Amino acid sequence: MSHKILIAYFSHGGENLVDDQIVDLGEEGNTKKAAKCLSEKLLQKEIKSNLFEIEPLIPYGHGYEETLARSREEYQSGAAPLINDGPNGYEAYDTIFLGYPNWWGTLPAPIVSFLRDHDTAGKTIIPFVTHGGQIFLYSLEAIKKEAPEAIIKEGFAIAAPYMSSAPYVIDEWLQKNEELVK
Ligand SMILES: Cc1cc2nc3c(=O)[nH]c(=O)nc-3n(C[C@H](O)[C@H](O)[C@H](O)COP(=O)(O)O)c2cc1C
Repeated sequence: MSHKILIAYFSHGGENLVDDQIVDLGEEGNTKKAAKCLSEKLLQKEIKSNLFEIEPLIPYGHGYEETLARSREEYQSGAAPLINDGPNGYEAYDTIFLGYPNWWGTLPAPIVSFLRDHDTAGKTIIPFVTHGGQIFLYSLEAIKKEAPEAIIKEGFAIAAPYMSSAPYVIDEWLQKNEELVK
């Protein structure tokens, strides 16, 4: 069976914490880089996928401290901010790579919004994460809670200071998990 694959991701970009230092990642955050790399790697295997960026209607600011403050509030209150409309033809996808940065040890709030806005029953969700050292931590449990009828498979994780390793990490993951994408 050939899968219909969506790569849905949220990525902050702007100022971020890398190796305990505040670094300006510019327009393209780490998770966005990882999502694009995944899409290219799939294409090299002649597997088509569609990229979709999850964006809060009120964007996070550029600065690290303001992002930290808002995300802390969302984390503590369990808020799910309004986000952009989902991808066209969402229903037809059977496999969703779901990419996000580890925020507060778990999912950034826009990912929670995406899971609440979309029916995931029976779909395979493959989370992938970029992080400052804590890998998936509580985020897989959080996905299970928001998508109780989805089939959840563990994807890959890339540490923020080692983004250049993304092509190798993704290649290795794809080699081991070919049946999930072929
Ligand atoms: C608000 C905020 C909270 C974060 N919390 C964590 C955390 O709890 N654990 C961790 O390992 N990294 C944490 N990080 C680091 C990010 O996960 C890491 O820099 C990631 O690669 C950023 O991806 P992005 O550029 O796609 O947003 C946090 C970063 C931000 C901005």
